[in-house]
This record gives sequence, structure tokens and C-alpha cells, in this order.
Amino acid sequence: MSKDKVAWGITGAGAFLRECVDIILSIPKERIDIFLSKAGEEVLKIYRLWDSLKGYNLVLDRSASSPSCGFFYSGLYSVLVVAPATSNTVAKMVCGIADTLITNIFAQAGKAGIPSIVLPTDVDEGLISFSPSGKKITLNRRKVDEDNISKLKEMEGVRIAYSLRELKDALRELGL
Ligand SMILES: Cc1cc2nc3c(=O)[nH]c(=O)nc-3n(C[C@H](O)[C@H](O)[C@H](O)COP(=O)(O)O)c2cc1C
Repeated sequence: MSKDKVAWGITGAGAFLRECVDIILSIPKERIDIFLSKAGEEVLKIYRLWDSLKGYNLVLDRSASSPSCGFFYSGLYSVLVVAPATSNTVAKMVCGIADTLITNIFAQAGKAGIPSIVLPTDVDEGLISFSPSGKKITLNRRKVDEDNISKLKEMEGVRIAYSLRELKDALRELGL
């Protein structure tokens, strides 16, 4: 089986969400599988972005053990991208907790030796985001979130994208 697909995890974050969906839409459907946390599915719908992913292979969080993690041992994926990644998911990742679809695939990607690229929502102090109704929101970064991103950066096989530009550059390096 050719190892040229990207597994893309979306968590329940409004920050960077629209931009990440735009990047996904630039990737051919046959080269990407999209994994959604329960909150990711909800937030996509709240921001009215659900329909834009029509036709893509979506893997939803409907089980406790995440059987779809098995795909990570099949040689299908060359990389896992988690973008956007909530504070919640990042905190679980650094603690080794794997109790949602996204934290499970992150753990299994690590165990299978598949590199991960993560775009956390808390990369910057005072990040500007937008509510579902379009209202501008300034997100203050907590110390715990800053510390968790630093810890995530130290995990083997993990690359942090500190901006959308860095995420796009990392994908370009992979030919995406
Ligand atoms: C409209 C909306 C936008 C949200 N945006 C963010 C965000 O940008 N960053 C974040 O860390 N959490 C955000 N949240 C909260 C997460 O969805 C929540 O913490 C959830 O439990 C995360 O679950 P997950 O990490 O499994 O996806 C948002 C929630 C809602 C309803």
C-alpha cells in the first residue's frame, strides 16, 4: 500500500478552523482522511463549515476504543496533522492520555513512528479569533497552555506549527 496519505485531525476549536478547512480543501480528496473529535464535529457545524467537507472521507468519534487507529499500522499515512488543536487536546497529548479519537490517533501515530504536525490554538498571546457570528474575540493564553505547548514540542516525532504559515510550509515540504 502506498504511504502517501495525510491523516488530519480536527478538534473543537474555532480559532484557525476556517483557515484549516481552506487548507484541507486544497488537498485532493484521495490524499486525505479527516478525523474529528466530538467537539470538532460540533464546532464545524456551529461555524457552518460541515457541508464544505462533503465528499471527504470523515472518521467520526463514535466509539470508546477508536478502532480506526488500526489504520495507523497499515502503512497508509505518511503524517498526522492535528489542526486546529484545542487546549484540551494538547493537554491530553502531553500527558499521554488517549481517550478521544484525536488523542488516540496521536498516541498511535507516535507508537507507529508516524510524524505529527500540531497547530495549537494557544500559540500566541492575544490571538485574534472570531465567534460563530463573526464577532472578533481576543484569546488570552494561560500559562498552563503555554507550558503544554512547550512540552508537546519536546515529544518525539512532533512538530509544532506556530502559525498558519508554518503549517502551510510544513505541508509544502511534504508535497501537499
Ligand atoms: C464555538 C466554539 C469554539 C471553540 N473554540 C475553541 C478554541 O479556539 N480553542 C480551544 O482550546 N477550545 C475551544 N472551544 C472549546 C472546546 O471545544 C472544548 O474544550 C472541547 O471539550 C474540546 O474537545 P476536543 O479537544 O476533544 O476537541 C470552543 C468551543 C466552542 C463551542
